[in-house]
Amino acid sequence: MVRVAILTASDKGAAGERQDASGDLAERRLREGGHTVAARAIVADDREAIAAQLRAWADGTVAEVVITTGGTGLTERDVTPEATRDVAERDVPGLPVALAFEGLKKTPYAVLSRGIAVLRKRTLIVNLPGNPKAVDEGLDVLMPLLPHVGQLLAGPHEHRGDADTGHGGG
Ligand code: MTE
Repeated sequence: MVRVAILTASDKGAAGERQDASGDLAERRLREGGHTVAARAIVADDREAIAAQLRAWADGTVAEVVITTGGTGLTERDVTPEATRDVAERDVPGLPVALAFEGLKKTPYAVLSRGIAVLRKRTLIVNLPGNPKAVDEGLDVLMPLLPHVGQLLAGPHEHRGDADTGHGGG
């Protein structure tokens, strides 16, 4: 239904020292939801490397949505939000609010993710934490939104009020 690319930011994953459980989980859930996983990559927790991959996917219109996993926490190596900011053209501030709101129902640590959501060209980029459980919980928030996001980003350039969105002009 929607083309999604998955980027895992992980020093250990990029070095082949750790299985990309979060990326695997995201791919499985997206496929089960009927979406296309258009691309996947693992990069180190490196601001330039993360930004370069995000730029390549967005500028190549590889996917309507890019989900990143990892690198949103408080350590020095956690730079995914900064890399995402580097490529951002517009903010989507409500998404991190929803992720924190739902996450707080599971763990108080949910507020420790600094993840952001932005648009670059016609691609929505959303940062999820690295923990598979957090990815699972984040996808509970994101997946119901994907069909409408796909309509908005893959459809005509203007968001027409009379489009059949199923949300009263949504
Ligand atoms: N959000 C949800 N929904 N569930 C979680 O288990 N873990 C938190 C937080 N967000 C968590 C969550 C924790 S413990 C951290 S440190 C931050 O995400 C950042 O994780 P990251 O550094 O792996 O990106």
